[in-house]
Amino acid sequence: MTVSDSAPADPVIHGESLARHTDYGSVSLTEADVSPDPFVQLAAWLDDAESDGIYEPNAMVLSTIDPDGHPSSRTVLLRGVHSDGLEFFTDYTSRKGRALLTNPLVSIVFPWYTQHRQILIYGSAHPTTAEVSDAYFATRPHGSQIAATASNQSQPIADRAELEARVRELEERYPEGSDVPRPETWGGFRVRPDRIEFWQGRTSRLHDRIRYTRTATSWSIDRLQP
Ligand SMILES: Cc1cc2nc3c(=O)[nH]c(=O)nc-3n(C[C@H](O)[C@H](O)[C@H](O)COP(=O)(O)O)c2cc1C
Repeated sequence: MTVSDSAPADPVIHGESLARHTDYGSVSLTEADVSPDPFVQLAAWLDDAESDGIYEPNAMVLSTIDPDGHPSSRTVLLRGVHSDGLEFFTDYTSRKGRALLTNPLVSIVFPWYTQHRQILIYGSAHPTTAEVSDAYFATRPHGSQIAATASNQSQPIADRAELEARVRELEERYPEGSDVPRPETWGGFRVRPDRIEFWQGRTSRLHDRIRYTRTATSWSIDRLQP
């Protein structure tokens, strides 16, 4: 008998703990609970996440569509909530940057599992003005400014030593306390949502899902089945 004859056709590598069923509790979310303005509601849930001790509550999973049509996802940090959108900062030549400059459509998830909550956002992302990017870049710690300048984000590099050598060279050119110019390839995107869903986990998977959809002048609100 060969090894493949005796091996199960579909071996389970990790199974038991994945079959666990957690009760998501009885906290509810009703149409009457939410603000008519989804940005106000988002700010309220961000405050709740912060006060409930969620680690990095402003971390969000951003999905984009590559020029060849492939979706790709990664975490970025939300740096501003404005009356018309959400801001994050990155390298415009990174995988996500190139994707967004070709196709602005995004989906975003704030995954707050310990609160039994998630927020799902669908919309489009557009580069911020140079002034906005400059202003945010200036608030970053010196080391982060140097790193953003040293790194061509998402491009391969021979080894870490090469990256560290670039950092040392930049630190000599721009010592701590001096102004590091913002690389032209680094800046912000503002996401303009078209739909925002607030998801509150409930017992027996009868979750609450309240969805905002952009209308010509405002937002409509409806409830989705769990
Ligand atoms: C908690 C967390 C926060 C992050 N925040 C950012 C961010 O604000 N901007 C950014 O460009 N990358 C951020 N990253 C790194 C990205 O997830 C990603 O690795 C990087 O941007 C390259 O992505 P890309 O190759 O898909 O463009 C963060 C990663 C983690 C885990």
